[in-house]
Amino acid sequence: MINLFAAVLAYLLGSISFAVVVSKAMRLQDPRTYGSGNPGATNVLRTGNKLAAALTLLGDGFKGWLAVWLAQTVGLTYGVTEAGVAAVVLAVFLGHLYPLYTRFQGGKGVATAAGILLAVEPLLGLATLLSWLAVAVIFRYSSLAALSAAVLAPVYYMFGHGVLWQADARIGVALVVMCLLLIYRHRSNIAKLMAGKESRIGSKKR
Ligand code: G3P
Repeated sequence: MINLFAAVLAYLLGSISFAVVVSKAMRLQDPRTYGSGNPGATNVLRTGNKLAAALTLLGDGFKGWLAVWLAQTVGLTYGVTEAGVAAVVLAVFLGHLYPLYTRFQGGKGVATAAGILLAVEPLLGLATLLSWLAVAVIFRYSSLAALSAAVLAPVYYMFGHGVLWQADARIGVALVVMCLLLIYRHRSNIAKLMAGKESRIGSKKR
């Protein structure tokens, strides 16, 4: 029961779209109405407002981190199990993808996934972020960087087991599902990448 309660709270937290909240607070256009239409930091950056993009990135990342961190710390004392933490991972991520407050029209999950990974294992989050950064710097495609990081994160989690951290099978499965969902949400980006029509970081969406 406590696991279900934690997952519901995580879903409600994940449902807060910082792209929408920040844009509204800063009197910017709704990110769902321009560029890729994605309520995410990459799309907010297309307005040219770097502060708004950074705040979106931090907000969406923080909610992922907070949900999992709370489940692993406070939740633990109230009886949240490892299965509960795995459920929280998926719930906060699904909240971002299919938010209750904006008619289930959410983002692609990159910042939230980064926050989740940092909470699950800081080193895992860091390695994944560095992988994202390397691809982003070399190719200048946010989506390609996210897709590469999504493939690598579960691999890192498995390979770090017993050396850098103790992996848990249920959390591992949750991370794999999260990364598959992230890839699924990037299907239009994948099509554009393959057609050579994807926008580079910071450029206006074609
Ligand atoms: O963070 C999402 C990014 O990977 C792609 O965003 O707006 O180019 O579809 P966008």
